[in-house]
Amino acid sequence: MYRSNTCGDLRASHINKEVVLSGWVHKVRDKGFVIWIDLRDRYGITQLVLDQDRTAMALLEQAKELGRETVIQVKGKVIERTSKNPNIPTGDIEVLVTELQILNESILPPFTIEDDTDGGEDIRMKYRYLDIRRNPVKNNLMFRHKVTMEVRKYLSDQEFIEVETPYLIKSTPEGARDFVVPSRMNEGQFYALPQSPQTFKQLLMVGGMDKYFQIVKCFRDEDLRADRQPEFTQIDCEMAFVEQEDILNAFEGLTKHLLKEIHGIDSQDFPRITYDDAMRLYGNDKPDIRFGMEFGELNAVAQHKDFNVFNSAELVVGISVPGGASYTRKEIDRLIDWVRRPQVGAKGMVYVKCNEDGTYKSSVDKFYGQEDLAKWAEVTKAKAGDLICVLSGNTNETRAQLSALRMELAERLDLRKPDDFAPLWVVDFPLLELDEETGTYHAMHHPFTSPKPGQMELLETSPGEVKANAYDLVLNGNEIGGGSIRIHDKDIQATMFKHLGFTPEEAKAQFGFLMDAFQYGAPPHGGIAFGLDRLVSILGGQETIRDFIAFPKNNSGRDVMIDAPAPIDDEQLKELHLRLDI
Ligand code: AMO
Repeated sequence: MYRSNTCGDLRASHINKEVVLSGWVHKVRDKGFVIWIDLRDRYGITQLVLDQDRTAMALLEQAKELGRETVIQVKGKVIERTSKNPNIPTGDIEVLVTELQILNESILPPFTIEDDTDGGEDIRMKYRYLDIRRNPVKNNLMFRHKVTMEVRKYLSDQEFIEVETPYLIKSTPEGARDFVVPSRMNEGQFYALPQSPQTFKQLLMVGGMDKYFQIVKCFRDEDLRADRQPEFTQIDCEMAFVEQEDILNAFEGLTKHLLKEIHGIDSQDFPRITYDDAMRLYGNDKPDIRFGMEFGELNAVAQHKDFNVFNSAELVVGISVPGGASYTRKEIDRLIDWVRRPQVGAKGMVYVKCNEDGTYKSSVDKFYGQEDLAKWAEVTKAKAGDLICVLSGNTNETRAQLSALRMELAERLDLRKPDDFAPLWVVDFPLLELDEETGTYHAMHHPFTSPKPGQMELLETSPGEVKANAYDLVLNGNEIGGGSIRIHDKDIQATMFKHLGFTPEEAKAQFGFLMDAFQYGAPPHGGIAFGLDRLVSILGGQETIRDFIAFPKNNSGRDVMIDAPAPIDDEQLKELHLRLDI
């Protein structure tokens, strides 16, 4: 038997018990006549003690030699500590060691296995298995497990069935590039790894599965960011005989359940906002509503004076920064430099200080009087003591710039509290998005999304205005889920493919199987997929999903631990028909 207890188990109630523990040597403190060893495993740390009076000399000598991270097994008796450590659950006791066996030595780890380690990100990724021994990473993985189990429990209780769908498939369009796998048995042909199980879950609805979910890996070859990995996990869900309202209710239920079980939060019903309003009020389709600072559009009150920058702009829009009137000239200049950085891209920023005495001081006093500025304050809901920041230009760009400024200011003002959770639904997304470069439309969500009732006709005349039966769940400024009501009619799906630029032949080649299936009584259906990595990290109060993935890829899509991707040998290339010259 390797152990009778774990290193997190023992309490005062175990005093005098003979125990066997196994774990890693976390720390050795050698005072000469007495040695303390912190023994660590997944469950905690237990202090071991050996001393001249009570321990055999040979054993004491052996203990002195133990290096960090050596795996040992000890036998001994639980005794009361003379000086207790209230900071750890096992702090009342220690184990007086009577036998010690080295199970495996460790060479010196490249960084310390401590909560605050001396190892940088790169080295920790290379030795991720050592990183996982550290509490912050270990706790994140355990947290992920807890969320995942709650999801499974909740959905299963609601009669959802978890069904696995294949990974070797053909392209499912979710807007990214595919990872492809060459087929040895089918020369010149390739599987694509799923960007999502989208088509399969729809086929499960045709198959009568009614309520499906799957916690599933998805693969997307796209540029990586803090909230994106090339392989990530979805909680993928689909239901038949539902309307948008049913889906929103079902998955609001799941999210509320998680907030309750994980954080003890009783949530109100989630607010809903249309995509158009989200863009107008926050310049963003995933607004962080933990704080206000909503946009105020100023065209009506700021144009037609002598200030040409505003007169020539499509949009003049501002936000009010709480307490910002006290910013010094230097601080405001730094803010202006910030919005002019290439990553944000504003040409400049106009500001108005709303003084405590009710007067206004702006950077455009030459053009605007106190009465004008009072109107700006009204529109942006600025109070005495606030600062109004105003940007102008082309609508989409200006909104994006002001949204970036809003988030930056909120960060600086500490308004983005990680333990505050503000979910909301964004609904009525546009069906299509114009690709500025090619001048063609593509599906904003995916090609299986249905337009809102009565909007099919608009497709011919003003495709950019058609709204979709599509929704996103947003939590603290992050898109944690998205879905739609699907097209379940073969002819409508064919029309949609036509509008997306597919010839009938291309549509048949790529999605014939789905259109065929729709001929056999496809029920009305819809669904949603949550990004599990994102959901877990936000519930965990962080935004970097890498920290909640056991073995993540770095920003170049590499696994630096196993060194992948890597070349394959000529023989394998030949077998896969990827090199024909050997
Ligand atoms: P969508 O493409 O919106 O929808 O993806 C659903 C959710 O998955 C998460 N996500 C990601 N997480 C980490 N890394 C990535 N690269 C990544 N890409 C997406 C996001 C997102 O909200 N089949 C549809 C769902 C449906 O219509 O039912 C789909 O995949 O949190």
